[in-house]
Amino acid sequence: MENTQAKYLKIALLGYGKMGHEIEAIAKDAGHKIALIIDTHADWQEKESLLNKVDVAIDFSLPESAVSNIKKCFAAKVPIVVGTTGWYSEFEAIKNLCMEEKNTLFYASNFSLGVNIFSAVNTKLAEIMNRFPDYRVSLKETHHTQKLDAPSGTAITLAEGIIRKTEKLKSWELVENKSPEQLAKDLLPITAIREEQVPGTHEIVYHSEVDFIEIKHEAKNRKGFAKGAVLAAEWIVGKTGLFTMNDLLAL
Ligand SMILES: NC(=O)c1ccc[n+]([C@@H]2O[C@H](COP(=O)([O-])OP(=O)(O)OC[C@H]3O[C@@H](n4cnc5c(N)ncnc54)[C@H](O)[C@@H]3O)[C@@H](O)[C@H]2O)c1
Repeated sequence: MENTQAKYLKIALLGYGKMGHEIEAIAKDAGHKIALIIDTHADWQEKESLLNKVDVAIDFSLPESAVSNIKKCFAAKVPIVVGTTGWYSEFEAIKNLCMEEKNTLFYASNFSLGVNIFSAVNTKLAEIMNRFPDYRVSLKETHHTQKLDAPSGTAITLAEGIIRKTEKLKSWELVENKSPEQLAKDLLPITAIREEQVPGTHEIVYHSEVDFIEIKHEAKNRKGFAKGAVLAAEWIVGKTGLFTMNDLLAL
């Protein structure tokens, strides 16, 4: 499709649940038009022909519908931003399709700008701290009680970033009934806390006998994810290829 570079975009929302509604509000605030909403299989049957009238699609649907939605956008030559998680076992096939057919896909498991900035700071700090082995690092994440998986995907990504830069660490481990200090020195302890009404929080602490160094990201609400997804949609129009938050933020 042509590079419109238009300030105001015609957006298709694929998935109109909690995130779809957040994105609608943010996109409208930015002056964009929600030109198409698809929330069910029946919607696809009724409205698929309208897909080629939009500038960009944003998918926050279900793990089992994301791949099919991506393929429909590829077929219609519509750039797509995907926030849906849980479909990555099919990532290689989608990546190949994207590159071979010169399609446009932007995907991220976390669209929050703050989390992505935090992640870059985390990796840089780990690189520095690798030179100071007297410090021991630990990670703590706190989420609402409806979140059943632990640790969070973001905590795992942060832990992997630390481990890549820290020679003495081999892996991470979820600490449940013991204190982080009881864990073997080559393991990065992650504590997962579940509390009522708590927005997602991630904390990384380096402690020595004399002090603590701590960095923390605390989400206030879902708007951060929606803002990042709309920013990605504005950014990919006119581009071809596969993109992530690192490309958008040049981190
Ligand atoms: N990447 C991120 O930053 C980020 C942030 C929050 C949530 N998520 C992910 O986004 C996804 C959606 O989250 P949510 O909280 O909005 O979930 P939700 O359950 O509130 O909404 C999902 C919606 O998808 C609709 N749907 C079902 N089949 C569909 C199809 N074939 N095509 C289009 N829509 C269809 C459902 O009817 C539902 O309304 C989840 O995978 C979640 O993990 C990602």
